[in-house]
Amino acid sequence: MRKLRLGVMISGSGTNLQALIDACAAADYPATIEVVISNRPNVRGLERAEQAGLKAVTIDHKAFDDKESFEDALHECLSDHKVELVCLAGFMRLLTAGFVNRWRDRMINIHPSLLPSYKGLHTHARALEDGVRFAGCTIHYVRPEMDNGPIVMQAAIPIASDETEESLIAKTLTYEHKMYPAAVRLIAEGKARVSGNKVAFKDVDLVMPGLISPLP
Ligand code: GAR
Repeated sequence: MRKLRLGVMISGSGTNLQALIDACAAADYPATIEVVISNRPNVRGLERAEQAGLKAVTIDHKAFDDKESFEDALHECLSDHKVELVCLAGFMRLLTAGFVNRWRDRMINIHPSLLPSYKGLHTHARALEDGVRFAGCTIHYVRPEMDNGPIVMQAAIPIASDETEESLIAKTLTYEHKMYPAAVRLIAEGKARVSGNKVAFKDVDLVMPGLISPLP
């Protein structure tokens, strides 16, 4: 089976990276992780990569004079490993339009909200503050505007009456970990591809019951 070559970019704990590592361990999973890049040294995600026997590279943004040279180093590392799809997994540096366009339609991101609501930081706290009944998470192709781009997969997560920021973060992560491997599989199998500003699906069942919260 031909496998899609992934490069995973992280900045921290790497639990989404771990979900991808675990998925890639299955012989029939259609992708492999060729390199893991962290912009922060000594993070837990790098340990996870090393424990899995993967190539783990630190490209510390603080070691570069400007953003362009940092991004040139990222680009070179991804290219050296013949990466076909970049997976941003808790990568917390904003990327310039130049870098994003070099990887256009070949780079996806996971964000802890039901986009286009709650772009940016502190998504869970802001959703709780607003009293929305659904939080969520989204996997999308990356465009130069932050937390924007064609949507591959989303989870709508009902907010419980006793929800706290901590419980919502934990609950959201469980959905993120289910979604990231599933979304990469759709892309690798050619079942999800960018068409204009949306993702077009082939042989994917999109019919599901709606969710109402609280129950009527
Ligand atoms: C995840 O919740 C991810 O959605 C979020 O950072 C966390 C990383 O966790 N990403 C963003 O907020 C990007 N804007 P992880 O390092 O354990 O995968």
